Amino acid sequence: MATRKTLLSMAADSWPVAKDELLRHVEDVVEVRRVGEESAVLEAERTGVRDLALLARRVPLVFPRHLTDVVAEYDHAAEGLEAVVDLVDSALREQAVGDEVSLQIWLSGKTSYKFSQQDAWAGASRVLSERGYSVTRAGGSVVVSVCFTPKTAIVGVNRVSDSLSSWPGGEVRLSKSPEQVSRAEFKLEELFKVFPIDEGIDPKGAALDYGAAPGGWTRILAGRGYRTTAVDPGDLDARVLELPGVVHVRTTAGNFLRESDERFDLIVNDMKMSPDRSSRLMVDSARLLKSFGVAVTTLKTGSHRVLEQIDEAFAILGAEYDIEFARQLRHNRNEITVVLRRFG
Ligand SMILES: C[S@@+](CC[C@H](N)C(=O)[O-])C[C@H]1O[C@@H](n2cnc3c(N)ncnc32)[C@H](O)[C@@H]1O
Repeated sequence: MATRKTLLSMAADSWPVAKDELLRHVEDVVEVRRVGEESAVLEAERTGVRDLALLARRVPLVFPRHLTDVVAEYDHAAEGLEAVVDLVDSALREQAVGDEVSLQIWLSGKTSYKFSQQDAWAGASRVLSERGYSVTRAGGSVVVSVCFTPKTAIVGVNRVSDSLSSWPGGEVRLSKSPEQVSRAEFKLEELFKVFPIDEGIDPKGAALDYGAAPGGWTRILAGRGYRTTAVDPGDLDARVLELPGVVHVRTTAGNFLRESDERFDLIVNDMKMSPDRSSRLMVDSARLLKSFGVAVTTLKTGSHRVLEQIDEAFAILGAEYDIEFARQLRHNRNEITVVLRRFG
């Protein structure tokens, strides 16, 4: 029986729960096997990359960050670059992929190849160019990828829209800036890179940031033009307080909710709170959100009963919101990020 194989990327720590999530939602699984620290191959009777991308968006599946349709898997990648380039060459011979392709190469786990990622990109790019493809790092509608795991090189070819992320392996890399006030900022910055949460929101609108201190998310929102109300009993960084449109309300989210009748275009919540409590707070806060307004919440699941906590949180949130996006981002630790849209 011919089966279909998809390479998935996920956080190394989340492998057991990511596997459970797949087994729960993919009916025709033959096998899910870990191939690298942050990668696994799912083999199924019929479910391929496009079906998985749909499932990931609709269910949603929160742990896969990146998907690749596996066209070839080479067991002895350590043998050398030429062997890998040959593999890309022969894999592509069987694919009709248009004229323009993005080429992505990444490593999953500790590898000890004698060639660098750059060498591999240059080698594979040369083969593709010789075959008449115009090769880019990003932006093409088809992506040709090679993932190096400790023992294998996995070659994939698929539409970028089925990859879930346009970043190689879903590894969104962000650099620290001198203005940054918290590491938590990366989570919101990454979210803006992988999901268009702003779409349809007034760019000069009003945002509410629950659990804002020391002010990283507030800084990002202010930088995007939002007038931002930052709610936290703790202190905000002095530089954030000086940004245009930022107001710090030194109280708890519960108190703010009881006393406010303002309306916001966007509500974000990064409070350290159990997922069920956070979700109830977001449901109660829906009255502060304009119709079809957007909310973003992290759900801090920790590492026990993770899927159960997510199920419970989604059921609570479903009273007021559609879940537009839910994923464990690269910058999330023992938590996931959820984008919600308030019903009309
Ligand atoms: C992870 S930090 C937020 C970091 C912030 N997103 C940033 O980028 O700087 C969590 C914050 O939630 C706040 N917090 C916890 N419980 C809260 C509550 N009930 N109401 C308001 N803030 C709360 C804490 O004081 C803490 O500052």
